[in-house]
Amino acid sequence: MSDSNLLEIQNLKMHFPIRRGFLQRVSGHVRAVDDVTLTIQRGETLGLVGESGCGKTTLGRCIVRAYQPTDGHLLYNGQGAAEVDLAKLSRAELKPYRREVRMIFQDPFASLNPRLTVFDNVAEPLRIHQIADGSALENRVTGLMNRVGLRPEFMKRYPHAFSGGQRQRIGIARALALDPQLIVADEAVSALDVSVRAQILNLMLELQKEMGLTYLFISHDLSVVEYIAHRVAVMYVGKVVEVAPAKKLFAQPQHPYTEALLSAIPRPNPRRKSKRILLEGDVADPSDPPSGCYFHPRCRYAQDRCKIERPPLRTLPDGHQVACHFAEELDLAGIS
Ligand SMILES: Nc1ncnc2c1ncn2[C@@H]1O[C@H](COP(=O)(O)OP(=O)(O)OP(=O)(O)O)[C@@H](O)[C@H]1O
Ligand code: SF4
Ligand SMILES: [Mg+2]
Repeated sequence: MSDSNLLEIQNLKMHFPIRRGFLQRVSGHVRAVDDVTLTIQRGETLGLVGESGCGKTTLGRCIVRAYQPTDGHLLYNGQGAAEVDLAKLSRAELKPYRREVRMIFQDPFASLNPRLTVFDNVAEPLRIHQIADGSALENRVTGLMNRVGLRPEFMKRYPHAFSGGQRQRIGIARALALDPQLIVADEAVSALDVSVRAQILNLMLELQKEMGLTYLFISHDLSVVEYIAHRVAVMYVGKVVEVAPAKKLFAQPQHPYTEALLSAIPRPNPRRKSKRILLEGDVADPSDPPSGCYFHPRCRYAQDRCKIERPPLRTLPDGHQVACHFAEELDLAGIS
């Protein structure tokens, strides 16, 4: 594994069984994550986008090992000397890695305990991992509060006393408490007002610079991803369909699904040439996906071959990865 890679996700699958009837027999599987291979480089922000139900959260939850993946590998090369496969570790073996790989959520309130003060919420991971107590603990939590832009005197209050943006700062402080390497941020700013959103994004950027953090930044909002991500991966029905540096993906998408997502971003420029591409229908059902290319029923460039043959994710000569048979022939519209 290359030293510049923090995590190599290889052929990862998360299939949820569907149980039916009185006997709860397994009648099928929801293939929420279906054979995903993707690399997260040390110190980068990898944006993960796609419509609702594409499997973004499920992939994030596999990485933090909230789920035991059905199959595949999560090769992690963190602070420790040796590379490990997080997908294969037992609960006990995972403990040191739970410090290094943390998740922050859309609704930080859900991950904060309403009956604990902010101090106790932020201190909790430090206590669980027996990293600090007494005055050392107090100093550490005070430092974290300062770092995320919250006044330390707020520590005695309870989470309900805070606004959405402040709660997200508390959520970030909690995630930072254990000196993580990789943070999976799942729709972390999606519920916030535009002005507060920019503040939290800027805080995340500063923290990344200072602490050398790596982010997997999950969002259905492409304009937010354009602002924060170095590279972007696009998911559709449990599969990665395109990966490229952010600038390139936005300017020259190679997958018709990405083109359609980009065309839907509201832009202030009324003279913009490219028109919005209407994506008809819904994301395919991951328990019963279409034949061939999963995107073919909604793709305006689909040909007969697309209904039969599933396009693998392949690397073009310039390093851009795409899963479309006709990537070289199509001239897709991006946004500049
Ligand atoms: N625990 C579960 N059991 C069964 N199916 C699940 C489970 N969690 C997610 N799914 C299904 O897996 C698919 C992917 O869901 P997921 O939440 O990962 O999507 P998402 O991309 O995060 O969507 P959103 O943008 O709405 O958050 C969906 O079809 C969802 O219904
Ligand atoms: S393989 Fe065919 S259906 Fe799939 S995205 Fe490419 S052109 Fe569209
Ligand atoms: Mg989600």
